[in-house]
Amino acid sequence: MLPSAAAVALALALLSAATTSPKFGGTNIPLHKRKSLITVNGTFDRAAAVKDAAKIAKKYSYTQGNYLKNTGRKINNRTDSSLTTFSRPPFPRQAEPLTDIEDDTEWAGTITIGTPPKNFTIKFDTASSDLWVPHSSCTSHGTQNRYNPELSSTSTSKDGNFAIEYGDGSVVSGPIFTDTVTIAGVTVANQIFSAVTTEAAHFLSDTTDGVLGLAFPAISRLGQPSFFQSAMSQRSVHSGEFSVKLAATGAELFLGGTNPALYTGDIEFHNLSQVGFWQIGGGHVTVNGSPVTSSCAGFEVVIDAGTTIMYGPADQVEKLYNMVPDSQVFDAQSGLYSFSCESMPNVTLSWGGRDWAISQENFNLGRTESGSCHCVGAISSRDVGLGANVWLLGDSFLKNVYTVFSVDRQAVGFAQLA
Ligand SMILES: *[C@@H]1O[C@H](CO)[C@@H](O)[C@H](O)[C@H]1NC(C)=O
Ligand SMILES: *[C@@H]1O[C@H](CO)[C@@H](O)[C@H](O)[C@H]1NC(C)=O
Ligand SMILES: *[C@@H]1O[C@H](CO)[C@@H](O)[C@H](O)[C@H]1NC(C)=O
Ligand SMILES: *[C@@H]1O[C@H](CO)[C@@H](O)[C@H](O)[C@H]1NC(C)=O
Ligand SMILES: *[C@@H]1O[C@H](CO)[C@@H](O)[C@H](O)[C@H]1NC(C)=O
Repeated sequence: MLPSAAAVALALALLSAATTSPKFGGTNIPLHKRKSLITVNGTFDRAAAVKDAAKIAKKYSYTQGNYLKNTGRKINNRTDSSLTTFSRPPFPRQAEPLTDIEDDTEWAGTITIGTPPKNFTIKFDTASSDLWVPHSSCTSHGTQNRYNPELSSTSTSKDGNFAIEYGDGSVVSGPIFTDTVTIAGVTVANQIFSAVTTEAAHFLSDTTDGVLGLAFPAISRLGQPSFFQSAMSQRSVHSGEFSVKLAATGAELFLGGTNPALYTGDIEFHNLSQVGFWQIGGGHVTVNGSPVTSSCAGFEVVIDAGTTIMYGPADQVEKLYNMVPDSQVFDAQSGLYSFSCESMPNVTLSWGGRDWAISQENFNLGRTESGSCHCVGAISSRDVGLGANVWLLGDSFLKNVYTVFSVDRQAVGFAQLA
C-alpha cells in the first residue's frame, strides 16, 4: 500500500459527473489524483521532487512580478532587489531541463470557451489568476485543442498582448480576447483570457491545453478579473467562495460555497494578510507538541493546492528537523530531510485557533531507498522565491483539512474533514 502522501496531482475525473446541487447551492466537481512522488516500490522519487520544486519556483517568479506591476508594491514587502522587473525571476536559474518537467501537479479538467462551446482541458491553479489556451495559429502545440476566434460568435478581440516568462527565458504569449467560458455549468460572459500563439518548449509534452487561475487580480498578468471573480460579479455562482477537498478518493472542487457533506464542525477562517495569492499570516508549526519558532507574530503562509509538498524558510525548517530524532539533510538541492521511519514526527500547523495535524501518512514521502529505514519528510527548505518568512502549503497539508477560499470574506478557512 502506498501512502496517500504520494499524491502529486489531481485531475478532474469526469466533468460530465459535475452536478448542480440545489441543496448546497453550488457546483461540485469530482477530482482524482494522477501522480506520485513515491515510486511503485514505496521509495521516494527524488528526480520528480527536484523537477517539482523547480517548476514551483518558476511559477512564483512570474506571479510575484505581476503583483509588483499591478500594485507598485513588492509582495510580502520584500526588500531584496530581485523583484525589480517583471522579466527577471527572483531566484537563481535552475539547472533542471525544462523539457523534462511534467506539468502534472495541478488539477486538470474540461472547460468550454466560445459559441458554440469548444472544449479545452485546463489546469486549475489557486496561485495564479489568468486563463490561457492555445490559439488556432499556434502550430507548436501538438495535438491540443485550439481557440479560433473566427469560429466563435461571442469572441471579441482586445488590445494588448499576454506573456508569461519562465525561468529559462522562454515565453508563452499571444493576443487577448473576451468570450463566454463555462466550467461545470457555471457560465461567464465576456471573460478575458489569452489565446497564446507561442509556447515554451516544456508545454509541448503537456497533456493539457492551458491554465485557469483561481487567485486574485493583483497577481494577474492581464490585471483583470479571474474566471471566478467574473462568475461572482455576473452572479453565476451562489457565493464568492470555492472549496476543496483533496484526498485519494472523493476529492472535490466546489464552486459557490462549501459542501457540508465533506466537513464537520465550524470553519476556522483567517483573514488574508495580502490580497494576491491566497495568503494568511500568524502561522505556527509544532513538532511532537513543541513549537518550532518562538516568534509570536508567526509566519506568512501561501495556500496552493497546485503544489505537492510544503516549503518553509531554511532556518525554520532546519529547526523543525532538529527536533526530529535521527534527522539529517537528505538532498540539499531539493531541500529535503530524512529521519527514522520508526519515529515519524507529529507535525501541526496553527493560526491561533486549533492545531491542524498533518497525518504521518501525509508527512511521509517514502523511504529514501528500497530497504532503508529512513523516510523523507514533506517539508522542504528549498527557497521557492517567496520571501524570508513565508511558507508554501501544498497537498501534503491540504489533504488533512477541508479548505475554503472565500473572496466574500477575503479569508481562507479550514474545517475538519468529515
Ligand atoms: C521496484 O522494485 C523492482 C524489484 O526490486 C525493480 O525491478 C524496479 O526497478 C523498482 N522500481 C522502481 C521505480 O524503483
Ligand atoms: C507590508 O507592509 C505594510 C505597511 O507597513 C503592512 O501593513 C503589511 O501588513 C505588510 N504586509 C506583509 C505581508 O508583511
Ligand atoms: C466536451 O467535453 C464534454 C465533457 O467532458 C464531453 O461530454 C463532450 O463530448 C466534449 N465535446 C467534444 C466536442 O469533444
Ligand atoms: C477579518 O476581517 C473582517 C472584515 O473583513 C473584520 O471584521 C475582522 O475583525 C477581521 N478579523 C481579524 C481577526 O482581524
Ligand atoms: C504521534 O502521535 C501519535 C498519535 O497521537 C502517537 O501515538 C505517537 O506516539 C506520536 N509520536 C511522537 C513521536 O510523539
